[in-house]
This record gives sequence, C-alpha cells and structure tokens, in this order.
Amino acid sequence: MLSTWKPLILTAWPRFLAPSETHGYLCLVPLNLTTSTLPWSEHEADCLALVCDESAFLASPAIGLVAEIDEALGGALLSLAASERFKGKKNQTLTFPTFGRLRAQRLVLLGVGPAADLTPNDLRPAAARAVRAANGFGAHAVSLLLPSGLQTQEHAAASVQAAAEGAWLGTYRFDKYLSEDKRTPVTVTDVQIALPATPVDADLAPALARGRNTALAICQARDLVNEPAVAMTPTLLAAAADALAKDCGLSIKVLGPEACRDENMGLFLAVAQGSDEPPRFVHLAYTPPQPKKRVVIVGKGVTFDSGGLSLKPNDGMLDMKVDMAGAAAVIAAIGAVAREKLPIEVHALAACTENMPSGSAYRLGDVLRSKAGKTVEINNTDAEGRLTLADAITYGLALEPDQLFDFATLTGACMVALGPHIAGVMTNDEGLGQDWLAAARQAGEEMWRLPLPERLNDMLRSEIADMKNTGERWGGALTAGLFLKSFVGNTPWVHVDIAGPATADKEAGHVSKGGTGFAVATILAHLRRLAAA
Ligand code: BES
Ligand code: MN
Ligand code: ZN
Repeated sequence: MLSTWKPLILTAWPRFLAPSETHGYLCLVPLNLTTSTLPWSEHEADCLALVCDESAFLASPAIGLVAEIDEALGGALLSLAASERFKGKKNQTLTFPTFGRLRAQRLVLLGVGPAADLTPNDLRPAAARAVRAANGFGAHAVSLLLPSGLQTQEHAAASVQAAAEGAWLGTYRFDKYLSEDKRTPVTVTDVQIALPATPVDADLAPALARGRNTALAICQARDLVNEPAVAMTPTLLAAAADALAKDCGLSIKVLGPEACRDENMGLFLAVAQGSDEPPRFVHLAYTPPQPKKRVVIVGKGVTFDSGGLSLKPNDGMLDMKVDMAGAAAVIAAIGAVAREKLPIEVHALAACTENMPSGSAYRLGDVLRSKAGKTVEINNTDAEGRLTLADAITYGLALEPDQLFDFATLTGACMVALGPHIAGVMTNDEGLGQDWLAAARQAGEEMWRLPLPERLNDMLRSEIADMKNTGERWGGALTAGLFLKSFVGNTPWVHVDIAGPATADKEAGHVSKGGTGFAVATILAHLRRLAAA
C-alpha cells in the first residue's frame, strides 16, 4: 500500500522560488559589484582589502602598494605583518585596524603566494576571503585592490570576472533552517574591484556581468543540493526548474511516470519504482535564433540514493541528498546561458527520481529494457545513476546535438582515483575532451581525464541480457563510463563524474561547505568559448 502520509517541511519551501525585490532569489544577498581605477587612498570603503603576493615581502625594505600604505600608517602595517609572520603566503590573512588613520576602518591583506604563479583564478578564493573577513567585522563596503601583475590588458577582464565571482560566492550560506538568532547576517553590500595600476582599454562591464551571472547560477545549484531530500523530491526539483524557466524565459517540459512510459524509459522507471515519490523527467530548452551550435547537458537527478535493495550502510547514505548535484548544475547553468543570451542552443535534461528499497523496488537479477532498446541485467541496484542517465542520454540524442555532456555524482571509485576535489572526465572525442578541460582550467575547476579502456567492457557482459549494470570492483569509474558510452553512439560526448567535488566537507576560499555548485562554471566557460569561436 502506498503511504499517503507526508512529512511536515519546516520552512516554507522553496526559498529558490521566493522572489526578492532585487534579484529574484533569496539565496543571494544582493551585492553591488563595481569596478574602479581610483588609487587606494581615494577609496571610501570601510574595508580596504589588498590581494598580496609574496614579492612585497621578499624585498627589504618592502616594496609596492603594501609599502606605500605602510608609509601612510607610519610603519605600523609592516611591523604588525612582521610580528604576525605575514609574508603574503597563500591563504595567509592579516586584518589591520587603522584607528582613523585611513578612511577605511580596516585593512585586510590577503596572501596569494608567489607573484610569478599568480593567475586570475587566484582572485576567486581571495575575493571570497576578503568578503568573509569584512563580514566578520561587520563592514558594508569593501574595496578589493588587485595585484598589479594581474592588472594587464591580457588579464584584466578575466581578473574582474574571477574577483566578482569570488566576492559573491563568499557571501553564500545555507542557513534557512537555522533559527534567526543562530544565523550570521551578511553585512557586506558593496564590493568595488580596483585596478588602478595601468589604464585598461577593455570594457570591464561584460566581465563583471559574467562574474555575477556565474556566481548566481553557482549559488542556485548549491541551494538545490543543500536542501534536504525531503524538500528536494523529484516533484520539487522539477518545480524549481519550472520557476527558473519562468524567470529566465526558458521552455520546459516535465514528464511524469506515464509520459516516461510512453518514452520507453525502462531503466529510469525501474529505479523510480521503489519510491513513493513519483519521478520527473525535466527538459529545459534555450533556443536562440541562429544558434552556432546545439549542446545537450544531462545531469544525474537522484534526489536521494539509499542504494535501493542493495542498501547502503548508514555512513554511505548520510550524504546522499547530493546525488542530484549533476541535475542542479545543468538546471542552474542553462538559466545563466539564457540570462546571458549566448548564441548556443542548449537543452538541459534531468531524470529525477529517488532510489529506495521497498516492496515495489527493482530487484537484483531483473532484466530491464532501456529506451534505446538494449536490455540490462541488474546486479547492483546501487548502480542506479548510469541507468537513469542512459535513458536521458538516449532522449538527448534524439535532439541531434553537436555535443552531449553528462554530469553525475556517479561513483565512489572516481573519488578513490582522484580524491575529493577533482572530477573525472571521460570522452569518446579527443578534441572535445581537450576543449572541455581547457574550459575547466579557465573556470578554475579541477578536472582530470580518465580512460575508457575497451577491454573492461568484458566486465559488463551478461549471460541473459545485452549487458549488466555493474562491473567488478577495479576500475569502477571507468566501467560506469563505459556503460554510458555504449548508449552514446558517435555523438561527441563528455562524461564528468563529480562524485567528489560536488560537495565539500569544509569551507575553503570561494567554495562553501556542503553543495559546491561544481561544474556550473565550466559549463558556462565552455559555452562562452563556443559562442566566441
Ligand atoms: N551516488 C553514488 C555514488 C557516490 C558516492 C556519489 C559517494 C557521491 C559520493 C552511486 O549511485 C553509487 O552508489 N555508486 C556505487 C556504484 C557501485 C555499486 C558499482 C559506488 O560508487 O559504490
Ligand atoms: Mn547508488
Ligand atoms: Zn547514486
């Protein structure tokens, strides 16, 4: 018998849907981001944040902006830096109260390491640290002074974009379920990104806009992932996608179980059949006039992965609300594509379901027919992601894309191989794989190529069906990739296993604890590169 009891959701959900006057989403504190070419002494901010490489402290006496500011403070800054052993090393932070001797009440020095290694990507975590520090002492306006090495024609736009992203991401918090008195309010309202060193010809407004747009999408993805599974069921995830579609002018199609049956999505429906929550297949589309390319992005949307009858132990299940991080990434990213009006046609697909054990759950040994027609024998119900993705990929291929990507918290094995911070990238197209990795480098997201060795296909061989859903223990990330590859055909395809980086167990730089919004930035970087090509 199906249960009709529904748990009480604590707060009116979803915050994602709740419009606020300034930006449509309450997850973000409205932040007024601007650029400036004023010298440091003319900034009116109550917090002056200085991105410091090590060069100033290698010279004796110190040189550059630090020395200049130190002089205005009668030598107090460098003497404090010396006593605190602040040398501009990566992640070192020094806060200095100016006691009325500067316009800014506080100075924050943000160490970023050796000058020679500095890239615009270093500004993302630095800007987030600046905002967090400023917020720690209740500042409202922050002026972020970029290091002169990055204020070049070559780096200016990328630096402004990265700093804008970092500043905004630094305000992110998921505190809606905390009582009012347990929340730390965000006080920072204004961040000015200052590049006074060299006059820059480039129009920095588009870079700033890209930074804001990217950060907004990342925060939306984080919100979707951070919601507990009770508040992010397939139905509610589809509702969030619907709200985003209305907000960004996307078209949306949501298929329920009957429509999925009409689509012959036998693998997806088998995973869904054990849950009391009905599945939802979400198809968001952004179709600009005369697109340069058509790209399909598929995201794994398992809103809770208990493992099914191959039930996970408590520790393995604890974090499994994050198993829809791929779906969150593609949904948030397509919204940003529409806001930015890129000349690329994009379709975001997410087969959303829970994976639950019950009397109606799919079983070990079951043989299922995929949308593509191929049959699959189930030898582990916890390898559910590849089943949902296979049918979504088949649906996506019917759209005849130039490129197809999938993003999935797919295997623990990928985390064993690459650790918790790096995503695994597998592809059937060398060139596209390289383009994707280049976009990831530009976006500052860590990804690493893994192979798809054909001979491991033996592990997926079944006696009674076209294939099994699970291989042996070794090479678990690769056999998952090979399983997907067998559904892709010749379409250029990239599979991104984000099981590790989709969440973080502690805050670091611009990355928040919990859902990270991983992959959104690279999706946007890749599509912008396609648009510019
Ligand atoms: N959602 C999990 C993978 C996962 C693990 C994501 C840890 C994030 C953190 C996936 O559905 C799964 O259970 N994979 C199995 C595959 C195995 C049964 C072949 C795994 O990794 O153990
Ligand atoms: Mn699983
Ligand atoms: Zn899973």
